Amino acid sequence: MNVLPNSIHARDIASVVHPQTNLATHAETGPLVITGTSGTRVRDDNGKEYIESVAGLWCASLGFAVERLAQVAYEQMRTLGYYHTYRQRTNEPSVDLAERLLSIAPVPMSKVLFQCSGSEANDTAIKLCWYYHNAIGKPEKRKIIARRMAYHGSTAAAVSLSGKPDMHADFNLPFEPFLHTEFPHYYRRHEDGESEEEFATRMAGALEALILEEGPETIAGFFAEPVMGAGGAIIPPRSYFEKVQAILEKYEILFVADEVICGFGRTGSMWGSETFDLKPDMISSAKALSAAMQPISALMINDKIYQAMLDQSHKLGPFAHGYTYAGHPVACAVALETLKIYEEMDIVTRVRGISPGFIDTLSAFADHPLVGDVRGVGLLLGMELMGDKASRGPFAPDLKVGARVGANAEKHGLILRVVGDRLVFAPPLIIEADEIAEIAKRLSAALDDTAAELGVN
Ligand SMILES: Cc1ncc(COP(=O)(O)O)c(C=O)c1O
Repeated sequence: MNVLPNSIHARDIASVVHPQTNLATHAETGPLVITGTSGTRVRDDNGKEYIESVAGLWCASLGFAVERLAQVAYEQMRTLGYYHTYRQRTNEPSVDLAERLLSIAPVPMSKVLFQCSGSEANDTAIKLCWYYHNAIGKPEKRKIIARRMAYHGSTAAAVSLSGKPDMHADFNLPFEPFLHTEFPHYYRRHEDGESEEEFATRMAGALEALILEEGPETIAGFFAEPVMGAGGAIIPPRSYFEKVQAILEKYEILFVADEVICGFGRTGSMWGSETFDLKPDMISSAKALSAAMQPISALMINDKIYQAMLDQSHKLGPFAHGYTYAGHPVACAVALETLKIYEEMDIVTRVRGISPGFIDTLSAFADHPLVGDVRGVGLLLGMELMGDKASRGPFAPDLKVGARVGANAEKHGLILRVVGDRLVFAPPLIIEADEIAEIAKRLSAALDDTAAELGVN
């Protein structure tokens, strides 16, 4: 692509560093400039339309512009556009939103802490794992376990929790108290003849072995996404969480469910914790909480944790943590309205209704020569690109098959999320059957183009 002087592309190259972007490639080719939207589609500055099959970053649950939320933001900005929630100050939207979240929590929860992003919600949860154990007289419980391939955010602590080596390299991370255990990707990682149940037992066994090796008296918390999103839509195998939760209980380890992607209907229940029967002590949520229209996250904590925090205030004084924009009235008002929209739409029933067609349509690609496995739940689905389907052999990494499919899809007007050699789908929750059919048509063209480039048939 030729980058014209003074174009938005040239100005972007000259002025912006983009997250998760190869800076060298970007300096040569410039950005894709998104200028508008309708429904599940976005438009670039040449007027070309793309179907967005992952709702931006798994977040734009109601599409990319929502008039009703714009009105609510405008009205709230006019009445009270900002006030903080430090030192016993509050505002009505933040109280209303906290009450609403507690009323729909998948397990009894006691209080809500607000932040601006999923990373910050997880950072807060990490700090509370430590604060709680100090409060109850177990200061040696300091280590935190998450899973390889997990994604919990980008701040220094949340990325330490994440199990993505590319996000640690040369950042001097992860920090020392963070440990990583196996991730439960049955299709790629089971041994020949191993059932899902046996695989789940092996994964839970690896967690217990790590806990015993480190000393259970040193482990403060375990974090997990119900479905691992950015790791490649990895759906937990049957009985995995049942086994994991029994181990956490045995060694008195706090369980934090990261519902940043799974929360608010994505898996066909209001929470991934309901779909997979999780009983977490804390739940982090963000993204669809505000339909992505405002940067806000919520961390719910149970009463055991809250009571320990309360004791700390008797000892230490104020709870010494917070963010300038915690409980921001505009963000809270928009999130509250988003939850009202979900209720009016009956979002869970909607997702359950459209999910079988979505999963069946994309599962048909398991017959494509490049595709080894397709698995989905609700409106979340992963597709594995495999070099040798029979032996579950991957493509050579330097073929960059996933990236090729992504680039070809873009040519056909489809924005895909590519994770190595996996494709991940999480469309806006408002998607209709005809748009799913259109995704399939464009994906088919992209896969065929890629197969032709690779000489596979
Ligand atoms: C499961 C999960 N947790 C946390 C985060 C981090 O959220 P944010 O980018 O809002 O900090 C993400 C972002 O994609 C996520 O997918």
